[in-house]
Amino acid sequence: MITTSGLTKTYRTRGREVTAVDDVDLTVREGEVYGVIGQSGAGKSSLIRCINLLERPTSGTVTVDGTDLTALAGRGNRAGRELRRARSRIGMVFQHFNLLSTRTVQDNIELPLEILGHSGAARSRKALELLDLVGLADKAKAYPAQLSGGQKQRVGIARALAGDPKVLLSDEATSALDPETTRSILQLLRDLGQQLGLTVLLITHEMDVVKSICDSAALMEQGRIIESGTVPELLATPGSQLASALFPVSGESGDPERTVLDVTFLGESTSRPVISQLSRTYNIDISILGAAMDTVAGRQVGRMRIELPGRYEDNVVPIGFLREQGLHVENAADAAGEAPSAAEAAPALVKEGAK
Ligand SMILES: Nc1ncnc2c1ncn2[C@@H]1O[C@H](COP(=O)(O)OP(=O)(O)OP(=O)(O)O)[C@@H](O)[C@H]1O
Ligand SMILES: [Mg+2]
Repeated sequence: MITTSGLTKTYRTRGREVTAVDDVDLTVREGEVYGVIGQSGAGKSSLIRCINLLERPTSGTVTVDGTDLTALAGRGNRAGRELRRARSRIGMVFQHFNLLSTRTVQDNIELPLEILGHSGAARSRKALELLDLVGLADKAKAYPAQLSGGQKQRVGIARALAGDPKVLLSDEATSALDPETTRSILQLLRDLGQQLGLTVLLITHEMDVVKSICDSAALMEQGRIIESGTVPELLATPGSQLASALFPVSGESGDPERTVLDVTFLGESTSRPVISQLSRTYNIDISILGAAMDTVAGRQVGRMRIELPGRYEDNVVPIGFLREQGLHVENAADAAGEAPSAAEAAPALVKEGAK
């Protein structure tokens, strides 16, 4: 639904060059919620602004719903007619809501429809329908100043949906909100996505956002996408920084005569007593060094760091047993060697709410 190929954006200011987006190839499939996560300055906002052509990319292409937007003329406020039309099919939700304070809630939602030239009656019908959809049917005549942050963002979402978009882009839509409101807005985005068949691309620096609603995710660093995939794929990728930030497990063993394994359980395997079966079948004592269970992308996921007696080479059979049960097993020593810990690799991502 959204594809970028070799997307690059270089800003030139007073002789200085900053490559904010560097050769990004991104594919967002129809109907999925895709999260791009990264620290401040990683280029996330630049990426999203290039995707809806608010910024003209320096090079590369952006295709949304089969239309190559980069081939259409104009940019920003001077977009040509075709680009404006294509853009009206892309809804955008902003961190600071961007509502007009002198207009009522209903008039804010009608604004994009006014620009598209819809009649008064059609605009008002659509606005009321959308207000109902976001749970604010009774606030049509209120002004933005009379709403809470969460309610303002609901208006922002309704406005983004006014042009019946197929794609919704969201830049830090929840980072100005408290955790409870964040959860309700995320749930709303997820529900609307399903109900309206939207493809949602959201930008965030909060791992919790990815955890609660994303089907797929990408990690951005210095303008580049350094990891991407569906959340289950990422969780099953040895040494994945996103996986360990989504799901940190810790627990140290200093004993080289013992084997430390990181075991990831997905879906129904979370409820099977695999560890006790392993212990009984091979008559071995297993120590649990660290463990966590959570819901990621609507699925139960568990991660556990366990320790078995003997060296890795001596444990080939029990490890094979765990893999046969559908678990992802990696040698914790390998993972530590291949990639730094989540906290070292992506400190802002593991600290909740860090900016
Ligand atoms: N209009 C601009 N002109 C010049 N440089 C810019 C412009 N917009 C962004 N940059 C630079 O591009 C880089 C990426 O910025 P961007 O806003 O895309 O990051 P971000 O990942 O969205 O960060 P944050 O999480 O803080 O919002 C930064 O180094 C920034 O200073
Ligand atoms: Mg940003």
